[in-house]
Amino acid sequence: MVTIKELLAEDGIIFISIDDNEQHHLRMLMDEIFGEKNIVANFTWWSKYTLSNDSKTISYQHENILSYAKNLDVCQIGLLPRTPEMDKSYKNPDEDPKGPWKATPLHAKSGRDEDRYSVQFSNGVTWHCPEGRFPRYTQEKLMELYNDDQLYFGKSGKSQPNKKTYLSEVKAGKTIGSLWPYHEVGSTHQANEELASVMGKGAFNNPKGTKLIQRVFQTANLSSDDIVLDSFAGSGTTAHAVLALNKKDSGNRKFILVECQEYADTITAERVRRVINGVPDATDEALCEGLGGSFTYCTLGEPLDIEAMLTGEKLPTYTALATNLLFTSAGISVEDVTLDQKNDDGLFYSDDKNDYYLIYKPDLEYLRSNEAILNMEHAKRIQDSSYENGKKAIVYAAGNHIGQRELTKMGIAFCQLPYAIHER
Ligand SMILES: C[S@@+](CC[C@H](N)C(=O)[O-])C[C@H]1O[C@@H](n2cnc3c(N)ncnc32)[C@H](O)[C@@H]1O
Repeated sequence: MVTIKELLAEDGIIFISIDDNEQHHLRMLMDEIFGEKNIVANFTWWSKYTLSNDSKTISYQHENILSYAKNLDVCQIGLLPRTPEMDKSYKNPDEDPKGPWKATPLHAKSGRDEDRYSVQFSNGVTWHCPEGRFPRYTQEKLMELYNDDQLYFGKSGKSQPNKKTYLSEVKAGKTIGSLWPYHEVGSTHQANEELASVMGKGAFNNPKGTKLIQRVFQTANLSSDDIVLDSFAGSGTTAHAVLALNKKDSGNRKFILVECQEYADTITAERVRRVINGVPDATDEALCEGLGGSFTYCTLGEPLDIEAMLTGEKLPTYTALATNLLFTSAGISVEDVTLDQKNDDGLFYSDDKNDYYLIYKPDLEYLRSNEAILNMEHAKRIQDSSYENGKKAIVYAAGNHIGQRELTKMGIAFCQLPYAIHER
């Protein structure tokens, strides 16, 4: 969770679906890591419309989605689109150039007696604040509204006035509530059907649906080029939802899915491949022709335990270390290639510009010996083979006997391995 927080953008939000058994533990953990003040909400997804009568105790009809911002002060919670229902009461009977408006009273339920007043407008109408009510605006503000033609005196122009509240001035969307009912965000049943339409029945238990994930995106106020990480990807609903949204609005959002089970390829990635390429039998037209997009499938290599490397307790294989160094220091990811030592000097990889050397054996005795050190003789051989071919040599080793100035002249960049730190 600490790593997830680090990975989040400053205005990013995390959403975690969790059942009641673990919810309170997770909440404490999240309060500790993200800070109590950064909770967005514990959303309730009303996910089932039926009751399980065979349930021994309670039939659960909802799931919790706990959500925290990395920093609630900078993150902008999204809005839902306004509904026609919400806009229905905005009209423009007097053809106001500011567009449709809704009449709102000039008085409110609460206030102070001393703030009550009556006023006569230059059109001859007198406004008294009604008994038991209080002015919503000061007399000065009310006159400003009058002079700005923001008061409506009815069709006759002589009725008691109301303020015009313009549609263009109200919130551009609908505030998101904490209850997400199935008729808005889909049910568990619909999510199963959705997955079945792509992968066949029973491919994965309890997937989420793309409509629910869509609500998550709206809440997080996802922009058209944001990145979504799902570290518990399961059936890959998150990628499906990202691709569907990109297709709908020509966005360029990206996704990263992580899945540790063997079905990462056969279910998680396979669903993504299918929705990209098209699902001929799908009822949804966009899905039928394919949502488009692309992704790269990667598998994790052997984990490197830096602590254990430093103590010499656990040394990685040559291949694992070479693969990791190439990726972490040069950003090169090799797929389906096993990086082995190609010559006695430790060459393990070449591209157009660089040759990569690793002087290493997973053997403490060796790492403590002079053999593991880059010396002049070794460096000259590297120079002869790389520099002479117009390439820079990147050399990883436990130690180095040559000054940087000399190495630069030889076209060698030296990178220290951590083993040199222990007992050398
Ligand atoms: C409840 S499922 C997620 C379902 C997903 N939301 C969907 O719509 O299909 C949780 C998934 O997280 C995976 N998982 C659990 N621990 C993990 C870990 N440490 N790293 C990666 N995946 C993990 C499980 O294998 C499982 O597939």
